Amino acid sequence: MSSIKIDGIECPYDGDAKPSLLQVALDHGVEIPHYCYHPGMSVVASCRICLAEVAQPNPRNDNKLELIPKLVPTCQTPAVDGAEVYLRSPKTISNQKAVMEYLLINHPLDCPVCDQAGECSLQDYSYRYGSSHSRFEEDKIKQPKKDVGPHVLLYSDRCIMCTRCVRFTREVTGTDELAVFGRGSEEQIDVFPGKPLDNPLSANVIDICPVGALLDKDFLMSMRVWNLTKAPGIDGITASGDNLSFESNEGKLYRIKPRTNMDVNQWWTSDEIRYGWKHVHSPDRLNSPMVARHGVPEATDWNTAYDEVLSKLEVTRLKKGEGSLAVVVSPMLTCEDAFLLGQLARQLDPSATLAVGPVPVNGEDRTFPGGYTVRAEKAPNARGVKRALELVAGEGGVESYDTIGNGLRGGTFHAAILTGNYPSAWVTDEMKAALGGAFTVLIDTLPGALTDAQPGEGADVILPGATWVEKAGTFENADHRRQCFPQAIPTLEGAKPEAQIALDLLARLAGERPKRFDAAAARAEMGGVFANDVHAPAEESQVNSEVEYVTL
Ligand code: SF4
Ligand code: FES
Repeated sequence: MSSIKIDGIECPYDGDAKPSLLQVALDHGVEIPHYCYHPGMSVVASCRICLAEVAQPNPRNDNKLELIPKLVPTCQTPAVDGAEVYLRSPKTISNQKAVMEYLLINHPLDCPVCDQAGECSLQDYSYRYGSSHSRFEEDKIKQPKKDVGPHVLLYSDRCIMCTRCVRFTREVTGTDELAVFGRGSEEQIDVFPGKPLDNPLSANVIDICPVGALLDKDFLMSMRVWNLTKAPGIDGITASGDNLSFESNEGKLYRIKPRTNMDVNQWWTSDEIRYGWKHVHSPDRLNSPMVARHGVPEATDWNTAYDEVLSKLEVTRLKKGEGSLAVVVSPMLTCEDAFLLGQLARQLDPSATLAVGPVPVNGEDRTFPGGYTVRAEKAPNARGVKRALELVAGEGGVESYDTIGNGLRGGTFHAAILTGNYPSAWVTDEMKAALGGAFTVLIDTLPGALTDAQPGEGADVILPGATWVEKAGTFENADHRRQCFPQAIPTLEGAKPEAQIALDLLARLAGERPKRFDAAAARAEMGGVFANDVHAPAEESQVNSEVEYVTL
């Protein structure tokens, strides 16, 4: 193990990995200011804020520690065993102040109206390493605001020319939409005429822009970032398993950002996932149980709806015998939802058929040059739902969605419990027709063919479910990686997580008081891989500044 000292702090590192001085510092939570460096892209060492005074052993002088005469860019300089980095030397500090002064010469200083305020490296470093006054008295150069793509706005006069965004489109997506145009103080980031920034990962440039130059149209001026509560989450739209941060205020989701996980999504996520949560706050969300009276659904309370479900399913079982119930568990649900719904099915009808709901697929997986893959499978948990249902039905005991349709048409099934939770309409006319005379319980989040049907053609009981951000659970992604996540926002009033609905009905069948759903307890009960091979969200690592704040 090799080691360097940064301001006297011993920082051991793996010498074979040949990290830069900056990487070693960041790994040990020591802050060295940096703009152009990003661990996911090539090193250009252009912003110069990370320069520091460094002394390292000279092999031609008995390995004596010698000061390198010039400041070195720590992002580009490999760590040498025994080297020392001085972040508080007068030379290092005067460079930091000079770079900050230079970067702010033409900056509009419009923090009060900038979305980036509160998470802006320019703002933070200005406090920590900058100066409290400006010597610049001339007119600032004004640059235009540009609409560069469907999700991204560019406020050019806030740009510090770090070129992270340009390198992202060159190295990570390979789409090359962004480039540097012009020279000197007239330099600007822009897109080529007729070629907007519209690749499937385009909005990642907003996250990597260290200042407020690249902004999210969807989040623009909607909330100050310091009012957002962050909860770790997992992609609930596709089978990627991307690690995400759900950012909300007073129960309302405002934005989704990627969380770094080098084993899954690196630093990125797709635009489809980032903006795929709008249905969570749809005004059309189902928010009350409904029971069909004379074929027309009427809002009711949970107890009445539960009574209707249990009494009608019991009558069906007595009339048609065991095996007449089909339970379809959507791949949009969590493993815990699936397990408890499977248990409920077995209690209702020991020979009930269990199946995974339809799994939407759009084209083929697409992997970008930077290694990120956009998944064709547009459901987060097809594998996890099947695995959880197999705990109840045994291996090979879970049927396909087509089997349920055929069984309904062929007269095998006379009752069905269907779960949805898809972001858009999912019940086909074919399935609706197949359900025909069967007693149908629908647990779903949005209206569709079974809630808005003609009298007598829809579901008999409708129970409002919860979207994945409103409940805790586990998803298994396309690579069979199981990841659990906590509840990010409160469940919509009038709705319940599917696992809670299953627990309520199980308690009613057993004549007990209903238990409150606890995802961790459910996983412990499920056992096997659900008890010992589920990845929990990593603790957020925080880089603490060792530098004192300047007095303003
Ligand atoms: S727009 Fe942002 S990411 Fe792109 S060069 Fe300017 S400061 Fe860097
Ligand atoms: S981070 Fe080192 S020069 Fe920009």
